[in-house]
Amino acid sequence: MDVTILLLWLIVIGFYDNGQHCNALDNGLARTPPMGWLSWERFECNVDCDEDPENCIGDVGYQYVAIDDCWPATERDHNGRLQPDIRRFPNGLKFGLYEDVGRHTCAGLPGCQDHYQLDAETFAEWGVDMIKFDGCNTDVEHYEYGYPAMGRFLNKTGRPIMYSCEWPIYPRAKGVKLVIGNYGMSESEERVQFGMWAIISSPLLMSVDLRAINERSKSLLQNKRVIAINQDPLGAQGRRVINMYNGMLQFWTKPILPRGSFAVAVVYLKQSGYPLETSAKLRDLGIYEAARYRFTEVFDDLEIGILTPHENITCRVDPPGIVLMKAVPLNKRTMTDRKNNANINDLRYFEV
Ligand SMILES: *[C@@H]1O[C@H](CO)[C@@H](O)[C@H](O)[C@H]1NC(C)=O
Ligand SMILES: *[C@@H]1O[C@H](CO)[C@@H](O)[C@H](O)[C@H]1NC(C)=O
Repeated sequence: MDVTILLLWLIVIGFYDNGQHCNALDNGLARTPPMGWLSWERFECNVDCDEDPENCIGDVGYQYVAIDDCWPATERDHNGRLQPDIRRFPNGLKFGLYEDVGRHTCAGLPGCQDHYQLDAETFAEWGVDMIKFDGCNTDVEHYEYGYPAMGRFLNKTGRPIMYSCEWPIYPRAKGVKLVIGNYGMSESEERVQFGMWAIISSPLLMSVDLRAINERSKSLLQNKRVIAINQDPLGAQGRRVINMYNGMLQFWTKPILPRGSFAVAVVYLKQSGYPLETSAKLRDLGIYEAARYRFTEVFDDLEIGILTPHENITCRVDPPGIVLMKAVPLNKRTMTDRKNNANINDLRYFEV
């Protein structure tokens, strides 16, 4: 079930991408996609803590989520204030909560409509750092007032609160959380989600039972090279550059650092059959400003090779599957690196 929703979602985001640019609020928040954990996809609204304690988030008196010794840095900051160990928590630790733009949440509990100001102030008072704002139980025409109104009231509180706003996509498409590690996903499907979330610069919000996650999914969620593409400091969004077979095969590119580099994803959403071999000329992907590019595969850190803008990148993609790559303009130093790299014969997916 998760998988079907995920694949539909990927086709839908394809429709929304026109390479548009927009002006963003610059209040220092979400310069790169937010990363964290969110309960919904795994635990939903299970409130039956008596009968099903394993799958219910609740407590039997336990109230605090507490971090014990070793959270502070070794020194106070220059104002004499305590600070967290910035090597481990460079962004601090933050608290997210859910509410709804309508009269009721999706589960039928009180929503924020007619109370936006009070609720925004309450969240600020509670020290909330992120609000996921759902779109249930109101008229679609109300979104145009409700979502910006809540945004204004959150801003007025003076507390920096990341506003995860489901409008204007909602209610046509839902499902932004990472379902990696939950039931019924193959390794290849999990890579499709993580790779696509990296290239479109989606928030990385895990929604998995971390007590029971398998090693494979865990190491995927910890893959530093994929996360680096998601968190690239340029903060650009990926763009779909080729769309074939009714959205079944898509090429995406995202500008990343160092300047002139790109992340490149080739995603195949067919759910059965055999791996597809596909090619595209770099120039047709919009990758042409440098004379040559060094291509590497990201998930497993494999060398692919060196290509000019007139050459083709060719890869084999599983159904469903993704090939995630980096294209970095070549300079002398990377050529030396390449000579020293023993991985060059390890090419499972590529021909150059
Ligand atoms: C509120 O919005 C203004 C821009 O309109 C921005 O400069 C400011 O940083 C925002 N404040 C917060 C707390 O988000
Ligand atoms: C390069 O890829 C294009 C697009 O798929 C294809 O039409 C062309 O035949 C390929 N050229 C080579 C030399 O493989």
